Amino acid sequence: MADTFNHDTEFQSRAIRDIIEWDIGNWSRALEFWENTTAKDLRTVNALEIGSRNGGLSLWIALRGGRCLCTDLHGPSPRAVEVHRAYNLSQSIDYAVVDAAGMEYEHKFDIVLFKSVLGGIGYGNNRQKQQAALNAIHRALKPGGGIALCGKSCGITASPVFAPTLCELG
Ligand SMILES: C[S@@+](CC[C@H](N)C(=O)[O-])C[C@H]1O[C@@H](n2cnc3c(N)ncnc32)[C@H](O)[C@@H]1O
Repeated sequence: MADTFNHDTEFQSRAIRDIIEWDIGNWSRALEFWENTTAKDLRTVNALEIGSRNGGLSLWIALRGGRCLCTDLHGPSPRAVEVHRAYNLSQSIDYAVVDAAGMEYEHKFDIVLFKSVLGGIGYGNNRQKQQAALNAIHRALKPGGGIALCGKSCGITASPVFAPTLCELG
């Protein structure tokens, strides 16, 4: 599947639409950045997507050959399951209801991914909740694990709590 993704441009365009879904021109650059900068072998990673809604980033991991736990506050949407099935990747993806600010995974994942989620977690200027989510993400990562995130700067860098925590996450 990774070969098809790399070499079939029509397949790649469709997949990027399903992975990114909206504001594709901007957000799809994150995929390129992650692929060029990660030290992880995506074919063997055990990943966690939080706030997934339609499971786009889980699809990306599975297309790259890795496994992903696709989660959202009230569970991923039925569309997530449908899309993953359409790519014949259901066997690489599990689903769960997860509140990122309250999850209790310990040293389980190589990568935690999320797109446009931190702002929502901290809705109403709830920095404590954002900090709880970042602490939980840190705990969920294996030693040497990494995060792949994208979102508007107002959801991320404008919050002073993120700077030290993200540095610590590495
Ligand atoms: C703007 S949507 C983004 C959905 C998807 N990541 C995307 O890029 O299309 C924000 C998502 O964050 C989820 N969310 C909000 N609070 C959350 C929490 N505490 N834990 C996990 N997910 C949360 C929402 O349910 C929603 O699916």
